[in-house]
Amino acid sequence: MGRQVIQCTSVYFSPTGTTRRVVRGISQGLSMRPRDFDVTLPSARERGVSLERDELLILASPVYGGRLPILARDFFDRLASGRRPVVAVVVYGNRDYEDALLELYDLCVAKGYEVVGAGAFVGEHSYSHVMGKNRPDPADEERARCFGLAVRQTMLVDSYLKEKPLLAKGRRPYRSYLSKLPFGPVTSRRCANCLSCVKLCPVGAFIDGDPRNVNLDKCILCAACIKLCPERAKSIGDDDFCDDMAALAAANLDRKEPAIFLP
Ligand SMILES: Cc1cc2nc3c(=O)[nH]c(=O)nc-3n(C[C@H](O)[C@H](O)[C@H](O)COP(=O)(O)O)c2cc1C
Repeated sequence: MGRQVIQCTSVYFSPTGTTRRVVRGISQGLSMRPRDFDVTLPSARERGVSLERDELLILASPVYGGRLPILARDFFDRLASGRRPVVAVVVYGNRDYEDALLELYDLCVAKGYEVVGAGAFVGEHSYSHVMGKNRPDPADEERARCFGLAVRQTMLVDSYLKEKPLLAKGRRPYRSYLSKLPFGPVTSRRCANCLSCVKLCPVGAFIDGDPRNVNLDKCILCAACIKLCPERAKSIGDDDFCDDMAALAAANLDRKEPAIFLP
């Protein structure tokens, strides 16, 4: 007997907005309008997320260094435990997602959730306009909708991903976290002082709301301030890092397709 799910909630972290767009596509395929918890900003995380019994949960995060960002993982980990169907989603920048989806899957299982579908999608890389350029694109959005539709059908027959048979990727123990880098975004003279960067920073790293003054201990180098600056006034202030990213981009120009795991 399938499970009747009448409500859906999405909870996602998305500094540069690609994860959010993938979640939208999946929700459309599910034919459900989720209660939407974008927990990117500190104020949203402080408000918290209330989960209803038996609703379908979509949990989504970008991939950082082949893992979940610590901030997203810790927030997801604090959500209410208990049996509920979950769709686990990661979005990566056309390099690799390595252990991130497995990590999210394991987190769901540890909380007593039942994973009804899992997917790794591609979004334009936070550090590049070349890697995963303009993705998710219309083809990705269609894949996301098809995934949502398939999840809906899966729930009707009640055969969940209980024993993780279909996660073809990822290893335990997971790879190490990226090391903290000693630099952050720098601001050019193009800055018009609009304060978009200050408002969009997921960790409140701008000291006293000054767009030119970043607390590097707080900054997670998510690139929200760089990608979303209307004046393109921000960049990463380290030449070696930029060279490494250019080399990474050159090595990852091939188009990677979404990976979808269903029972
Ligand atoms: C700190 C950091 C680490 C990243 N690590 C990876 C990675 O290991 N593999 C990859 O393909 N993309 C990586 N990316 C790119 C993001 O996963 C990708 O751009 C994603 O679409 C960003 O999601 P968002 O738009 O929701 O913020 C990384 C980005 C950042 C900021």
